[in-house]
Order: sequence, then structure tokens, then C-alpha cells
Amino acid sequence: MFPWSLQPRRPWQGRRVVLGVTGGIAAYKSIQLARDLTLLGSQVDVVMTEAARRFVGPLSFEGVTGRRVARSLWSADGSALHLSLGRDAHLFVVAPATADFLARAAHGRADDLLTTVLLATRAPVLLAPAMNHRMWDHPQTGANVQHCRDRLGYHILGPHEGRLGAGEGSGMGRMVEPSHIVEWCGRLLSGRTGSLSGRSVLVTAGPTREPLDPVRFLGNRSSGRMGFSVAREAWLRGADVTLVSGPSSLPDPVGIRVIRVETARDMLGAVEAHVASAQIVVYAAAVADYRPMKPASRKTRKSHTGDRLTVELGVNPDIAAETASLTPAGGIRVGFALETDDLLERAGEKLRAKGFDLIVANPAGEDDAGFDVDTNRVTILDRHGGTQDLPLLLKDEVAGRILDRVESLLEGGMASGAAL
Ligand code: C5P
Repeated sequence: MFPWSLQPRRPWQGRRVVLGVTGGIAAYKSIQLARDLTLLGSQVDVVMTEAARRFVGPLSFEGVTGRRVARSLWSADGSALHLSLGRDAHLFVVAPATADFLARAAHGRADDLLTTVLLATRAPVLLAPAMNHRMWDHPQTGANVQHCRDRLGYHILGPHEGRLGAGEGSGMGRMVEPSHIVEWCGRLLSGRTGSLSGRSVLVTAGPTREPLDPVRFLGNRSSGRMGFSVAREAWLRGADVTLVSGPSSLPDPVGIRVIRVETARDMLGAVEAHVASAQIVVYAAAVADYRPMKPASRKTRKSHTGDRLTVELGVNPDIAAETASLTPAGGIRVGFALETDDLLERAGEKLRAKGFDLIVANPAGEDDAGFDVDTNRVTILDRHGGTQDLPLLLKDEVAGRILDRVESLLEGGMASGAAL
């Protein structure tokens, strides 16, 4: 999945990214990275080392960024470039970062254009190492990485375990996939201190499954998209995010602690374990209200039940209500209400009954809003009686609007939509 592709606009317009490419086979993947960063609106200046140019041609990068690749310090361009690129960058990414580059970066060398730009920049620096696992395991590489991270404040992403270059089998040293690097770029472009930096956010998402027997369950049509979007948006704003999700086909969002659960009672347990340390809790899960009281231990057969099966259902715990008192003082709690009728009235009742600060009301039964679609049309109600109608938006954008309201509450701002 590449969630940024859902964005209809170019959210990073006006942002300048320097993409350093050093000499490893993973350099071919950096063409995709350069393309994705460009499509998101940023101006991407690729700086290649001499070794990188042995693996991929500058023309490929020029084709996807529309800008000349910078290569040499020893040219009329290069002498001024190291200052202007470094000074003007909002983000400095090196992918792949080889062992040699990490060593030169750690020692503050300025022996080529890339390391010189690195010394000249004050932008956040993101390094995605890639190398043979023996080189990664070498204590000197470890010391260089530690120095880059702890002393210089560079963000080190990966490497991951996986298949290495041809003939090398698998091991620790594979570059993190470009789509993950793009996500991290988004987080760092939101500023070194994103608006939710230092905050802990807990989000519930998806449906729950309540077993009838070992192969069947009661569930609902929730895909998890709204909750995943909220979790991802909070992470992009710098928060530390835990996502408790019922069964969903969506992959784990980058950078987020994901706890997968099945039943409402499992979800309650996971929320109870994490809610006390969360300043923001967003209950976006479509929790099953009922569960079969006595799930069968073996598959139920028609030959045993005849033409009718009666299942006794019990009420599930209300996770939002039961964990209200566990949220730290000053914490913000957000609920969702999906209704087929009397939407705003019922949403208001739920807001009061479950002690939410905000509730997001969305109509059920519309083609482009609610379950299993990328868009949503919601109204945000607050505890002071204010309402804010939002137009039809992508769920990612709805997530952003919800978190804007949360941030304004945290700052002690008016919660009322009317005041915005
Ligand atoms: O299902 P209902 O409309 O009451 O859901 C309202 C809010 O309460 C939602 O935010 C939902 O995630 C939460 N909820 C919950 N546990 C339940 C039922 C609902 O946390 N058992």
C-alpha cells in the first residue's frame, strides 16, 4: 500500500528534499523514491556519489525529478551547490546509505559533494542504510551508526532483514522499502517538532469478530480505514501511536505499534493495557455489541441443528465507556457514531453517555461515506454543543480535521465548531 497516493493534491508543494544516493545495489530502488517524493509535490535534488553512478545512471533520476543530478564538488556548479542545497533543504535523505558513507558521515568528512552538503545542512537527516549483513554487523559500522544517531541526531531507518544482493542469501542489511521511507519523509517534513510530538495516541479500529464456532463469527463491514487514517495522521504529526485493531486487511502503518485482536473482549484488554499512558484516545472501532454466549467448540452442522438454529447473544463490554476513567486527567477522548437515522441526536447522546470530548457522526448507508470506502462525510460534535459539518473528504483528510480539533482542545482552545 502507498497511502500517499490517495492524496488528490500535492501536499509537499514548496518543500525541498535533498536525496543522496550512494553506491549500493539498492540504488535502483531510489529511483522510485525520487519519483514518489516528486509526485507528492516536493522539489527533489538528487546528489549521487561516484560509486552510486556505477549502479544507476543520473538520467533515470533526472527523468523522474525533472531536475539535474548534482554529482561533483569540482565543478563551477558544485562549489556553490553544497551551500545552497544544504541551506535550502527541508529534509536530507540518504538512501541507500552504504557502510562507507556512514563512516564518512560519522567522522564529519567533506570529501565529496554529498558529505559536504550534509555538513552544510541544518535540515532533519534521514539515513536508510543498506549493505551486506557482515558489514552491518561489524562493530565499526555499529559505532558509526550510533554516533550518527546519538551525537548528530540523524534518523536511522532500518536496515531490514531480508534477501540481500544476488548470491548473498538473506540477512540484516536490506534497505527499507521506498514506500516506508516516503512515510518517514512525511513525518520529518511536518517539522522536527510535529504538532503532536511528545504525545501518546491510542486508536481503536476495525470490526471485532465474535465466534459462533471455530470457523464462523459475527462481525460487521468495517474495514478499519478510518481508524488507520487517524493513527497514521497522528504519527505523521510526531505522536507516539498505538493502534488496537480488529481483523482488517490493511497492512500495519509505518512507525506505529499495532496490536491485532479478534473479539471485543480482546480489544478491551488491549485498550486497558495502554490507555493510562495516552493523552489522546480515538475510539474508531466498530465493536460488535453482542457476542454468542456459548460458541460451539466444533463446527455446527445442519445435520445436528435441523432447519433452525437459535443462538443466544450476550452484550459485549463497551470499551469506550469502561475505559473512560482510566484516561489521564486532561486527556482528550474522541468517539465515532455511525447511524442510519437521527444521526446528530444519537451522536450527541453517545458523546454525553461515554464522556467523549468530541464525537464524529457519520451516516450509514451512503455510497461514498461510512464503511469500506476511502471517503467520508462527517459532522464533528463537541462537548459544548458545537457542531462542525465537513464536506465529503478522503478519510486521511477527515483524520486531519479530527486531529486539528483535538490539538485545539489540548491547547485549551474553544472546542466549538462554531468558533473555528
Ligand atoms: O456502537 P456505538 O454507536 O455505541 O459506538 C459509539 C462509540 O463507542 C464508538 O466510538 C465506538 O468505537 C465505541 N464503542 C466501544 N465499545 C463498544 C461499542 C462502541 O468502544 N462495545
